[in-house]
Amino acid sequence: MKPVRKAIFPVGGLGTRFLPATKALPKEMLPVVDKPLIEYAVEEARAAGVEEFIFVTGRGKSAIEDHFDNHQELERTLTERGKETELGLINGSKLQPGQIAYVRQMSPLGLGHAVWCARNLIGDEPFAVLLADDLIKSDKPTLVEMVEVYEEHGGNVVSLMEVPHEHTSRYGVVTPGAMKGELVEIEGLVEKPDPADAPSNLAIVGRYILQPQVMTYLGEGKSGAGNEIQLTDSMLELVGQSPFHGLRLSGRRFDCGNKVGFLEAGIAFGLDRPDMGAELRDRISALLSE
Ligand code: UTP
Repeated sequence: MKPVRKAIFPVGGLGTRFLPATKALPKEMLPVVDKPLIEYAVEEARAAGVEEFIFVTGRGKSAIEDHFDNHQELERTLTERGKETELGLINGSKLQPGQIAYVRQMSPLGLGHAVWCARNLIGDEPFAVLLADDLIKSDKPTLVEMVEVYEEHGGNVVSLMEVPHEHTSRYGVVTPGAMKGELVEIEGLVEKPDPADAPSNLAIVGRYILQPQVMTYLGEGKSGAGNEIQLTDSMLELVGQSPFHGLRLSGRRFDCGNKVGFLEAGIAFGLDRPDMGAELRDRISALLSE
């Protein structure tokens, strides 16, 4: 079984729900406390053993490339001023030369299309997909847990969470088969089903480990829900071909593609920070009692 060495980060979306902030700033660069969303995702992939980081970008996303690049002037200035802590913060996000690649999506035709744009860099290896706007707070990084499942069972693995039944039309939803603890065998998948037709209330969170055969189906370019090329539709083709498991999320997921979810994430991560948690708690209490 081949290890999961590559990860795709689709960052080609328009981020219309965050306008005007995302007119010139990529949604994935929005900070939760003081770190951009995309850096949380890259850290998670690194922890899971990923060695090659493939960003599927679009127009106006160059800030992401700059973020993971050297900034010699800033580094020199921080060194001259003896700002070791700040230097550590910017060096922590750096990847080795050659570990990171960018592919342009050219037209934002949907998540499935974004993933397909990376096909030549993926070749015949299994790969992970991480959506940076699904931010997960957990003791053990979600992709690390998923790689453990992959190493035991092979095939494909997605992360799952229970959602209120009436919200199923916002997610990819699975038809669950046998369940063992947090592990669910997947017998079917459907993107954004009407709650009346949803096969369960187990929704896919933005973390996937997929076999490269999915690229063949994505290449057919069929439009699905919302008239977009959906990743879920091609993942369905893999069911029955190779093992397909869902792992229930052990942490808490914040939907940072949505304004309230993003603010909630900032508060949750801020409250957890030793350098500011207590002060933030006091200020939130004061605001709530006004
Ligand atoms: P979203 O559905 O959140 O779309 O995409 P969006 O364009 O980013 O944001 P809104 O809805 O307009 O506010 C989910 C993920 O898929 C990526 C996005 O960057 C995000 O990580 N995506 C989506 C692409 O890379 N390309 C696409 O064509 C669509």
